[in-house]
Formats: sequence, structure tokens, C-alpha cells
Amino acid sequence: MSYDVAVIGGGPGGYVAAIRAAQLGGKVLLVEKENMGGVCLNRGCIPTKTLLKSAEKWEDLKRCAEFGLKAENISFDFAAIMERKNKVVAGLRGGIEQLVKSNDITVMRGAAAFTGANNLAVTTESGRETVEAAKIIIATGSVPSGIPVPGRDLPAVVTSDDLLELAEVPKSMVVIGAGVVGVEFSAVMRAFGCEVTIVEMLPTILPMVDGELVKRMGLSLRKQGIKTIAGAKVMAIEEAAEGVVVKVDTGKGVQEFPAEKVLIAAGRRPVTEGLGLEAAGVAYDRKGIPVNERMETNIPGIYAIGDVTGQSMLAHTASTAGMVAAENAMGQRSIMDYGAIPSCIFTAPEIAMVGLTEEEATARQLTFKTSKFNFAANGKAVTMGETDGLVKIIAEADTGKLLGMHILGPHASDLIMEGALAIKNSLTAKDIAHTVHPHPTLSETVMESAHGIFGDIIHQAKMKPRR
Ligand code: NAI
Repeated sequence: MSYDVAVIGGGPGGYVAAIRAAQLGGKVLLVEKENMGGVCLNRGCIPTKTLLKSAEKWEDLKRCAEFGLKAENISFDFAAIMERKNKVVAGLRGGIEQLVKSNDITVMRGAAAFTGANNLAVTTESGRETVEAAKIIIATGSVPSGIPVPGRDLPAVVTSDDLLELAEVPKSMVVIGAGVVGVEFSAVMRAFGCEVTIVEMLPTILPMVDGELVKRMGLSLRKQGIKTIAGAKVMAIEEAAEGVVVKVDTGKGVQEFPAEKVLIAAGRRPVTEGLGLEAAGVAYDRKGIPVNERMETNIPGIYAIGDVTGQSMLAHTASTAGMVAAENAMGQRSIMDYGAIPSCIFTAPEIAMVGLTEEEATARQLTFKTSKFNFAANGKAVTMGETDGLVKIIAEADTGKLLGMHILGPHASDLIMEGALAIKNSLTAKDIAHTVHPHPTLSETVMESAHGIFGDIIHQAKMKPRR
């Protein structure tokens, strides 16, 4: 069989690339060895956000008296929560399958490997098929990385994939790694009563987040009853009478943490094995497949997108890169811009960020101003009873051009888009501040913070000079 474009991998990078290539008139093949939707839909974004929604509703139920509501004998059914998660995933998966079909994309269920720069061998249930394609897009994603620690293969030691299939909530869990996976899963498990301790080897949790937000998040995690230990090294995981014991060098000696489960959340690694990349001459290393700004590998006509490139391992980055690769494969000229990619951490409260952190702006020796506005001073946040957090804006001192926006608070993941739009289009804090924001909404926090770059926040009491 011969195609204009063959895509390996049906995640948010691959299926979007396939659709874009089909929209541009290509005869397209999409090869997927598991379920359509990739990690994002099957083991990542969607199932975790579904569980987080149940956790959020459970927290709301516990706080209902604050809103004048009464509920007695409240409880939850973890099996039903998992059942809903499976239904949500299955429904969305059906949607993607329909989309792909409606674009006349041929789908092959199997594992693809290169046999040449324009050839793939696809191993399916019924045997091995060979395929020829003018252009090939690699979108094979990533898997959780392991850690070189004794005891890592014990049955109590799990990845985020395993946690999504749990039959019941563990009584206690040690989480190794305080990145996005570690913190999000901790929040879910804690909400359902699990005792959680997070161990991070770097000096701070969420090392990629603006320091000021990290401090506030640390407080919020503590309030939720999640313990965090940063600057600590896991020495070993050992079997115990009940579960395991995690031995951690905290810098002040070795401490032991008993736990029913241990979650390894120490990053992800690109999937390059079994792809026959050598047969096509595609260069790769431990960090993934290097690509140029057109998402093309060292071999013309072969592209790589998403987690397998090792850059910005986010579903929306993969989808954007997928469109860029498909457009180039179909003869257009399209360039990937990694400059204004928002990223979000779905905890309560949420974190969302785009552009530079204050630490990065300082390291680059930029002359900048910062401004902050607290959700506690926003009418809508008060009505919602969700006043924890702030919007922090970083802007060039002389022009006011937006460099970064960092939000900790309710619906941060939705609010951040104003910052992404501003940074992508070189807008200034004035452009945001002088755009009318509807009242009463959370978006006013962004506007007020933008006003603050020039010192003009309305809903902030003036500090009187001390006598
Ligand atoms: P990560 O790279 O974000 O964080 C891993 C953390 O583990 C780091 O802070 C690292 O210092 C720490 N670590 C590594 N080895 C360790 C050890 N031996 N002991 C203690 N700490 C150790 O990776 P994570 O959280 O696993 O996520 C993987 C990828 O998936 C990331 O690129 C992330 O952005 C993405 N993702 C995004 C989500 C979102 O957008 N909401 C949700 C989940 C994942």
C-alpha cells in the first residue's frame, strides 16, 4: 500500500497530524498499536482530570455547610469513580475514532517499524504488512522513566499508569518526584484519604514553576495534609511486614517512610525502541529524536513530533507540532514556535504558567517589573469561596511587553490563555489592562495584575507611608 503521509502513533500528536494531512488532501495512514488517543486520553490528562473532578466534588461536599447546604452521611464509592473515569475515556476515544474515520484516514492496528526511509513494516494481529509512504511522521510518545534505586521492582512500586487502574485507595503512598505527575496524583489520592509523602531530589518541589507560586503551593499542599520533603535522595525501597519502607537521605540523616504504595513520578522518556530508526538513518539519542523548526528529522521527509522529540512533553505541544509537521509534509511551509506554550498543573488550586519565570528573567539579566494581584480581592473568587492564590505578571520595564504570566488559583488553566495570547503576539501589560474584562469574573484578576505593572491597581488598598 502506498500513502502520501504515514503517521506512527495515534496520540494527541499523531492523530492531529493525520487529520491535518488529510484536510490538506493527502492519502493518509495512521498506525497505532494500542488504543487511539495515546497517553493523554488513556493514561494521562483525561483520566486524571476525571478523577480530579470527583475529588473536587468530594471536597465541595465536605464544605457544603459553608454554602448553607446540608448533607449527612456522605461517602464515596471509589469503584464507581473509576468506572466513570473509564466511561469518560471510552466516550472521548470513540469521538477520536469517528473524527479519524470521517477524514478518510486509513487506520492500521499494529506496531510499525522502518525498513527504509519511505517504508514501514506493520505487525498486526493478522501478520506483517508492508507500507510505502512519501512522508512519515513519528509520534510514538513517551513512557514513565524508572529510577536507579534498589527495590524499584517490588510489586508495591507503581507508575502513574498503574495508579489509574487501582481497585481501592491505598492507605499510604510515598511519591518519588515532585513534578507535575507527582503533585497531581498526590492531590487526587490525598483527597480520597491516602496519607501522602512526596520526596523530591532537587531543593524545591515543582522546580520548573516560579518560586513565589511554589512557596504558596507548598503551603496549600501542607494544608491538604500532603507532606513534602525536598533536597532528599531515595536510597532504597525495602519490603516490610505491611507494604514497603522507603529509605530517604533527607540531608539530616536517613529517614524511613513506611507506605502501602510507592509512586515513581521521576519524569518520562521518549519511545524510540523497536522503531527500526537505523533502517531509515534517523538520528536519535537518549533524549529523543532531534528535529528542526519544521519538525523534520535529519532525514528529509521524516518528521518527529511530541514527547518522542524530548521537548515540552505536553499534549498541546504535540498537537501543535503535529499540525506543523503535517503542513510541511504536504508541501506547505510551517514553523514550530515553542516560545509561548502554556502549561498547567491540575491541583486545587490550579497552577498555570506561560513565558518566563521571575528566576529565568533574572538569569537572563532582563530589566523587568512584576505585578501581583490576589484572588482574595476578586469578587467572583469570594462568591465561589476559592480565594487562595494570585496572578503574577512579569513585563519588560520600559515597554511593558509581557514576558511571563503565572497563576495559582481557581480556573488558572483557563485564565492563562490571555497571557499566552499576549506573549505570542508581543502584547503589553497595557493592552491587557485596557481591554474591558467582564464583571464579576475571575478574568478581572488578570486585568488588575496587568494594571499593576504601571502601579494602577484599583482593587488594592494603597499602602500609607509609615509615620
Ligand atoms: P517532571 O520532569 O515534571 O518531574 C519529575 C520530578 O522528579 C523532577 O522534579 C525531578 O527532580 C524529580 N526526580 C527525578 N528523579 C528523582 C529521584 N530519584 N528522587 C526524587 N526525585 C526525583 O516529570 P513528571 O512529573 O513525571 O511528568 C512527566 C512529563 O509529563 C512532564 O513533561 C510533564 O510536564 C508531563 N505532564 C504534564 C501534565 C500537565 O500538563 N498537567 C500532567 C502530567 C504530566
